[in-house]
Formats: sequence, C-alpha cells, structure tokens
Amino acid sequence: MKKTMKKVLFAATECSPFWSTGGLGDVVGSLPRAIRNSGIDIRVILPLFESGVDKNNLKKEGVIYVPVSWRNQYCGIFSHERDGVTYYFVENEYYFKRQSIYGQFDDGERFAFFSRAIWEVVRFLDWKPDIVHCNDWQTALVPIYHKLMYPDLGNIKDIFTIHNIEYQGKFDKNILGDVFGISGSDYNLVEFDGCINLMKGAIECCDKLTTVSPTYARQLGDNFYAMGLSDIIRKNAHKMIGILNGIDEELYDPRTDKSVFKQYSAEDIAGKAENKRELQKLLNLPVSDAPVIAVISRLAAHKGIDLIKYALGDILKENVQLVVLGKGDRYYEEYFSYMHQTSPGKICTVIAFNKDLAQKVYAGSDILLMPSKSEPCGLSQMIACRYGSVPVVRATGGLKDSVISYDRKGGNGFLFEKYSTEEFLSAVQTALSIYGTPKWEEIRRNAMTTDFSWRKSSKEYVKLYKDLN
Ligand code: GLC
Repeated sequence: MKKTMKKVLFAATECSPFWSTGGLGDVVGSLPRAIRNSGIDIRVILPLFESGVDKNNLKKEGVIYVPVSWRNQYCGIFSHERDGVTYYFVENEYYFKRQSIYGQFDDGERFAFFSRAIWEVVRFLDWKPDIVHCNDWQTALVPIYHKLMYPDLGNIKDIFTIHNIEYQGKFDKNILGDVFGISGSDYNLVEFDGCINLMKGAIECCDKLTTVSPTYARQLGDNFYAMGLSDIIRKNAHKMIGILNGIDEELYDPRTDKSVFKQYSAEDIAGKAENKRELQKLLNLPVSDAPVIAVISRLAAHKGIDLIKYALGDILKENVQLVVLGKGDRYYEEYFSYMHQTSPGKICTVIAFNKDLAQKVYAGSDILLMPSKSEPCGLSQMIACRYGSVPVVRATGGLKDSVISYDRKGGNGFLFEKYSTEEFLSAVQTALSIYGTPKWEEIRRNAMTTDFSWRKSSKEYVKLYKDLN
C-alpha cells in the first residue's frame, strides 16, 4: 500500500520575502521551498503583517474566532501559493497592524493569539498536519497549548527549533491566566527562575527539539551558551538534533543579483573590483585598493561587537576601510556612528537593516568580520562567501560548522577560538597579511564555491519528518 505523504505545518512570525528581521526570516523563506519536492507536503503559517503582502492577492479561506484567555478574537484565514508552497496567514488587525513586528507592549498577548490561532486553524482546515514545526519563542506556546488545550486533535507531533536561545519569551507570572490562558496548576510547565519562560515550556512539551547547527546543539548543554536553560536542555537532550542552515543559492548569487553594481562569479571575478569601487563611492570612502572590511550584523553583544570595538584602534592602523551596516543596541549604534564622524575616509557606519545595501556591501567588500560570542548558525558568513568576501569568524556554533580555516584543504576563511581581542585581532592581521597574494585568490575562490545550499540539510529535515511518528 502506498504511504500517504507526510504533512507538515511550519509556523513562524517572519518569512522572507514577505517580512523579515534577520536570519529566521531567511530560513523560513527558504527551507520549506527546499523541502517541497521531497515527498513532504509542507505548508507555512504566519501572522498577517500587511506591510509585507497585498491582501488583495490572497485567497480568503474563512473567518473564525480564537480564544485568548477570556477574550474571543476575530481571526481571518488567508492563503497564498508561492513557488509551490502554500502559505496560510492569520489576520487580526488589532494584533498585527503595528509599526514593527516585535517590541510592542503586548507581544505576549499578540503571540499567544497567533499560537492559539494555529490550533484553531488546524481544526478549521480540511488539510490536517501530521507535524507542527515551530520556530523560536514567538511560537513556543504552540506545543504548550497542544498539550494543555488541544489533546483531542489526534496524533500530531510538535517540533520546536531554537534559532537563538538569547530570546526566550520571559514574562511576569501575573499574566499567566489573564494573557496566556494557562491555569495556576499548570504553571510548572512554563515556570523558570520565578517567571514565565515560554521557550522552556516548548522545550519540555515538544516531541523533537532542533537547533540550527550541530556545534550549537552541543554547546546548549553549557550555560555559557544556554542563557540559563542548560539543565532543561540536558534533560531533553534525547530529543535534540542540530541541523546546519543553508541559504537560498538562487537568491544569493552574484551572477544574477539585481542589487549589486556589476554581476560576477568565481570564474569571472573582474566585476567584484567594480563593486568595490562603486561601494566606496556610494559610502563616501576614498576609491582605493585598500581591503574593505565589512560588519553586517545585528548590533548585539552576543554578535561579538565588543571584540570589534576593542580591536578597532589596531585594525584602523592598517591600510583598510571598514563598513558597518546594522542596527541594534543603542550603545553600539552610537559608538559606530561616533567612529564614523571621527575617522572619515576610514570607517562608514550605516545604522539600518537594509537588504539591498547589505548585498552591495557583501559584493563590494573583501573581508567580513563575525567574531560572535555565540552563533546558533549565522547566515552572513555563508552569504559573504558566495560574494567573495572572506569571513573572519570565531569558531563557535554554526560558524565553526561552515567556515574552514585558510590553511586547510578547501579553506574559505579565518577562525579563532578564544573570545579575546588578541586572538581576534591576530586572525584579522593574518587575513590582511595574505590579502592581495595568489593564496588570497585561492581562499576567495574556495569561499565562493563552497556548497551552502539547502541540498544536504533539507534531507536531514525530511528524514526527521519521515521518522517522527
Ligand atoms: C538567529 C541566529 C542565527 C541563525 C538564524 C537562523 O538569527 O542568531 O545564528 O543563523 O537565527 O537560524
């Protein structure tokens, strides 16, 4: 008898190209597409943030009402097909018609609504998933609600993926009933350190726990990386698997990218120099052959921004130019803006999350810095490689799993182990000492031709889905 196709509902709050604030959006935008032809019927469910899609192009599936504790909230259900993947959108203007996706005073309630809506949508649709696969704290309530409120829905398995344990969804215990609709007797499921911790609850309730690189999966057993949750992770280690992210190689291809000034490839590298010149002009840096070093990152402590700060004086003594693109903690934003003012012609800072400019910087730079304190996977080092910007990274998490040291076979970048300014600076200096030599050309070619596609990793997800019964 022919086995029926496994059905997976993939839940998240961001998804490129609709809307995205970082790596999660890229993964949600590309992984289901990579899986779609592998004998798995995978569909994606998202909140409807209207800034990212034209509602007129969506199909209305129906209207339901979703309980959020004592509230009963309107919920429009829309669908849309794109590149062979079906996307479901959960509509509620009160919760999702906002200036920004995150950082609102009522994020807890907004994502409680979304998480309950997911189960109500499952009830509503004719299409019934075998697996609901959730991502990060905003959907952490999904496996929790499954256990507490929807045990009748049949044998549906829950997968929870940690993209970043820095953000756990912590709330005051006083809102347990009023916002999350969870009774006091179930508090222990979500309680951690005296407050509500949604990620902890998801780790406990899910059937399979994944994270985005094998090294990070191992590191999460250590509190230096687990941000307090190492005991919970270790207790649930039997459920854990680390699968390295891939990137959309069609999207991130310097041969076809519309954002870059001149298209190029590993075989026809001449265009890269033109990208460098145009980038220098665009950013008011002197047009020169000096290596252009890029930082394209959320400006947050775990990204290792302090190491860049402490090493900056020494780096700027070299014949280099530095481009910083990103936003995040005000402290770092102000620091790099100040450095921009005081070191004209050496450093250019752009405080923004700007995908188009990011592509121009990948294409126009020679080196990418990523000295992360922790890095679940990291996508920038992979994208940088594709564009021939050689990464200098700390050997942690997914950086360790994707960057091969320049002195090894297939070497595509520079690594350092210890989270110290000295080691970081020395790695940068090694890179600069090789820059401009034939060895550099070889490293850059290796970087541009490393396979960062989803080919391998999507097979691991397919196996995970097929084996989970
Ligand atoms: C988070 C992590 C990053 C990872 C991304 C996608 O943004 O910080 O390391 O690549 O999620 O999984």
